[in-house]
Amino acid sequence: MRPDAGQILELVSQYAEQGLMLLRTFEEVASRIDNYVVATDDAGRVIACAALEEYSPSLAEVSSVAVATTHQGKGLGTQVVLGVERLARARDIDELFALSLTDKFFISLSYKPTTISRYPEKLARYDTLSKSGVEIVPKRCFQKELGKSWSAPRLVEQAVAPKPKKRKIG
Ligand SMILES: CC(C)(COP(=O)(O)OP(=O)(O)OC[C@H]1O[C@@H](n2cnc3c(N)ncnc32)[C@H](O)[C@@H]1OP(=O)(O)O)[C@@H](O)C(=O)NCCC(=O)NCCS
Repeated sequence: MRPDAGQILELVSQYAEQGLMLLRTFEEVASRIDNYVVATDDAGRVIACAALEEYSPSLAEVSSVAVATTHQGKGLGTQVVLGVERLARARDIDELFALSLTDKFFISLSYKPTTISRYPEKLARYDTLSKSGVEIVPKRCFQKELGKSWSAPRLVEQAVAPKPKKRKIG
């Protein structure tokens, strides 16, 4: 088990209490630790996190995006979401969605506003949570197609045009 499950939980819990995200248990975080991307400070403490929540082989949610209050506005939220996007691409996921009250954040990451009715899988999960007594705060929905156009950056040696061979004269 990776050691940062407790720190992720601590970070997420403070925003869950404000209704900004779903409350998780330690077991939920620890059992899905490979789905989390984190940023840490110099002392190795988790100061930002985001998670990939898979709904099908091609669809996933970017969830639990949280940055410690003392470290907001420095691009860490962007970095952890981009990390989740890399994880999604590595798992061949085509489409990501996110639910948020902070519109500008996901729009700055090229997500497009959409409607949650596009994701019946998510609505079904909300329904289950709601029936078990969890209060669901309405949020706006954003989506991003990862597409197949992305390719790994080329190695520097490949990107540099080969030097023309010197012609031997005489
Ligand atoms: C929302 C949150 C994740 C953003 O993280 P961050 O590290 O502060 O964000 P970044 O520095 O990467 O900012 C990226 C962009 O989002 C915008 N942004 C960030 N937080 C914002 C906010 N609260 N309201 C409006 N815009 C915001 C920034 O202005 C920036 O846009 P720009 O590049 O055009 O200036 C962070 O503020 C947070 O943890 N909030 C509380 C938890 C929460 O609401 N989570 C759910 C959000 S999805």
